Amino acid sequence: MNDVSPGSPDRVRIGLLGCGHVGAALASLVAERRAEVARRQGLDLEVTRIAVRNTAIDRDVPVDDGAFTTDAASVVADPDVDVVVEVMGGIEPARELVMAALSAGKPVVTANKELLANHGAELYALAADNGVDLLFEAAVAGAIPIMRPLRESLAGEPIERVMGIVNGTTNFILSRMSDDGASYADALSEAQSLGYAERDPTADVEGYDAGAKAAIMATVAFGARVVAGDVYHEGISGISVADIEFAADLKHCIKLLAVAEQTVADDGQSQVGVRVHPTLVPLDHPLASVNGSFNAVFIEGGAAGDLMLYGRGAGGRPTASAVLGDLIDAAANLRRGSAPGIGVLERARIAPIDDVTSAYYLNLEVDDRPGVLAAVATVFGEHGVSIRSMEQEGLGGEARLVFITHGARERDLRATLTDLRSLDAVRAVGSVLRVIGD
Ligand code: NDP
Ligand code: HSE
Repeated sequence: MNDVSPGSPDRVRIGLLGCGHVGAALASLVAERRAEVARRQGLDLEVTRIAVRNTAIDRDVPVDDGAFTTDAASVVADPDVDVVVEVMGGIEPARELVMAALSAGKPVVTANKELLANHGAELYALAADNGVDLLFEAAVAGAIPIMRPLRESLAGEPIERVMGIVNGTTNFILSRMSDDGASYADALSEAQSLGYAERDPTADVEGYDAGAKAAIMATVAFGARVVAGDVYHEGISGISVADIEFAADLKHCIKLLAVAEQTVADDGQSQVGVRVHPTLVPLDHPLASVNGSFNAVFIEGGAAGDLMLYGRGAGGRPTASAVLGDLIDAAANLRRGSAPGIGVLERARIAPIDDVTSAYYLNLEVDDRPGVLAAVATVFGEHGVSIRSMEQEGLGGEARLVFITHGARERDLRATLTDLRSLDAVRAVGSVLRVIGD
């Protein structure tokens, strides 16, 4: 254990729920930073209890073996635990444990986006009722400070849209496929071995993890309650190397984006659209340069203009850094008896995906003969979908037509696709992907 400064810092005993990638990194970081935190913040942080599933695993953390237990509830209830850190993941028993801690007046720090995206509102309310913190910086975009800027620095900003690359695993996979020609399967197993992936990587590759983060970002950015079930999502498992190459020919890359935006519905009321999908990003957009497991969140504000926060979005130690920041904040607030809370949250009115407007990329395989292009263009026009660019590539008797549209409503694009599929000259409709930048 490191020495702390002699100015009698306040002792803060931490109960850790989970000691996997994030929990183990946090236990080490707390020990490494202990003396400095005591000197600067007057807080003597120490992990005193740790709950795990299997106490027989040898864990390389600077905490006594006697601190470990499989009884997570006893960690929360322990009178020698002042602050609870939940890094076990999943909904149950994490939800019950967090509720027990808050009800007992203990601040909670969590990295668990799944829990917050499904049960955040009840937990924030319980924290407020008990006058303690529930902090969750690490739950969105790992080490990147995004929750606190949205809650504090941008509290008065009329935020219009928040767009992020918020899943390290999928960004790592897409980068490896694009830069090194790696197969999807190889890139995924590499991401798992580096500790980026969720226990079930389906959550990453099918967009559920990013969807949970999008719900949390929308809730905090717009002060409106959005839950995981409100988020439209498509994953990256259908993206091929050919799609990545077509995108590159058009000077775009493909990223899994989480988008949360506030728009005005046809009846004049404000609504929130939240979605996750693979997206063509122009190579000159700041998000195009975010590669590997890095994440970034791009905020479009009515007064501040555009902002981007960039950094490591996954991995034990980067995530532990965000948890430690919250831990210090929670401990300082506990000492001064304050807990700012998340503020009033009204249930968001969710924009149906059919109403969402986006530009689209689509490619068609068609017969290569006179009149085909005109017939195809007519279908776009009939549904009010305006073509921004078109390229044709010969395929010997057939042709591939690659279109990028101007902004179009999802429902109009879907109707266009239905009619295109019914044209005799259209052999196949390939990938259809949204495009940002229009
Ligand atoms: P791991 O699977 O590596 O670790 C989970 C830990 O929780 C393990 O120590 C496990 O015990 C313990 N645990 C699970 N269930 C129980 C239970 N019922 N009782 C007691 N202990 C339990 O997960 P990560 O560290 O990767 O992630 C933790 C959380 O952080 C998740 O919510 C995740 O979404 C989030 N997160 C993760 C990031 C990352 O890059 N990994 C980044 C940002 C957030 P045992 O070791 O015995 O199995
Ligand atoms: N599995 C997540 C990711 C961890 O890949 O981004 C961070 O939340």
